Amino acid sequence: METHKQLTIGLFGFGVVGEGLYKVLQQTPSLKASIKKVCIKNPAKKRNAPDSLFTTEKDELLFDKDINVIVEVIDNADAAFEIISTALRNGKAVVSASKKMIAEHLPEILKLQKETGLPFLCEAAACASIPVIRNLEEYYDNDLLHSIKAIVNGSTNFILTKMFEDKLDFTSALLLAQQLGFAESNPKLDVEGYDAVNKWSILLNHAYGIVVHPDKILFTGIQNIQLSDAVVAGEKHFDIKLIAQAQKLGNGKVAAFVLPQFVKLNDPLSFVKNEYNGVVIESGFADKQFFYGKGAGSFPTASAVLSDIAALRYDYHYEYKKLYHHTPHELTSDYYLKVYLSFDDWKYIPREKFEWIEEWHADSERKYLVGVLHFHHLAEANWWKENNTSLILTPDPIIDNLDIIHLKKRSLELAGII
Ligand code: HSE
Repeated sequence: METHKQLTIGLFGFGVVGEGLYKVLQQTPSLKASIKKVCIKNPAKKRNAPDSLFTTEKDELLFDKDINVIVEVIDNADAAFEIISTALRNGKAVVSASKKMIAEHLPEILKLQKETGLPFLCEAAACASIPVIRNLEEYYDNDLLHSIKAIVNGSTNFILTKMFEDKLDFTSALLLAQQLGFAESNPKLDVEGYDAVNKWSILLNHAYGIVVHPDKILFTGIQNIQLSDAVVAGEKHFDIKLIAQAQKLGNGKVAAFVLPQFVKLNDPLSFVKNEYNGVVIESGFADKQFFYGKGAGSFPTASAVLSDIAALRYDYHYEYKKLYHHTPHELTSDYYLKVYLSFDDWKYIPREKFEWIEEWHADSERKYLVGVLHFHHLAEANWWKENNTSLILTPDPIIDNLDIIHLKKRSLELAGII
């Protein structure tokens, strides 16, 4: 039987995740993996590990012949890309948790893996402790994935839970998320949806073979959600969650976005509270599956890094089957969305863009409507994020191009217009 490789690790970063990994590795001696050196930015900071372990010289790790694995868990995306590129070119396997870096450099990272034949694993970069990337790679390595719908950002889910269930105000909820080590060092990345869309770009690749820059995915965060929206959600028996969604449409292409969404109380994602993440996958024969676990924090994230390190003992690498062995899917913008919008004044809402409006409430100070509009009215303009307007998708928001005429007729009939 093959004996497992000895793994000698060079670790970049000793923050929430790096220190978590250090502790976790100390508790798993059977792994035959040891950290030889840790590269850090600030040598003056007090660390809970021997001084001799640390350096500020990245080349001490990247050019050390004994080190066969580089683990990169730093905050700076540009520096992270340089580190992982040099590491792969120098013959080292890489484990990374840098979501922003991976999402923004996906084509180059794919190329580097092809050129070097070395593994680049990043389970911790999406949904932390939930093994979603490996599931998408291995279990759903066929063409049967209909849809994937997920909560991928722990901080925003934590803030929404604290605000709407524990009645904390936004600032206190965010502060708590920062204190607990869930939030990015720039929390705008969490709150405004950047972190979620970075993760979604990574997952679209493993789910559908789609390589798309996060800039090209429609997204926003939770920054515009109002307490009045939570009241409407309550009346309708919904929760509000920041949901990343991708769904195959009738034309074989994939609709994908990251937007706040009303979630029915019997939807598994409604069950996902605080810093937990959740993923609901629908596929051809398995029907629905639900994955649930901690999506942020030191040990949950370190656990995913640890699992990647363990997988390197048998040279595991992603095959990107949907990209290289199947015909990769394409994104589409040809579909409609049913949205809820709340706003201060009708003048901010381009009513002519709606196919139809099912509900409107203009009597109170905060007004709202529920209506259907084409995806491009959101993708090509910002009116729905400006002037204090809040957009939340309705449950099952996607209306396929093929169904629109039939649904429009039915809604006009119901309204007594035809
Ligand atoms: N800030 C991220 C989150 C950390 O809240 O999900 C985990 O990626």
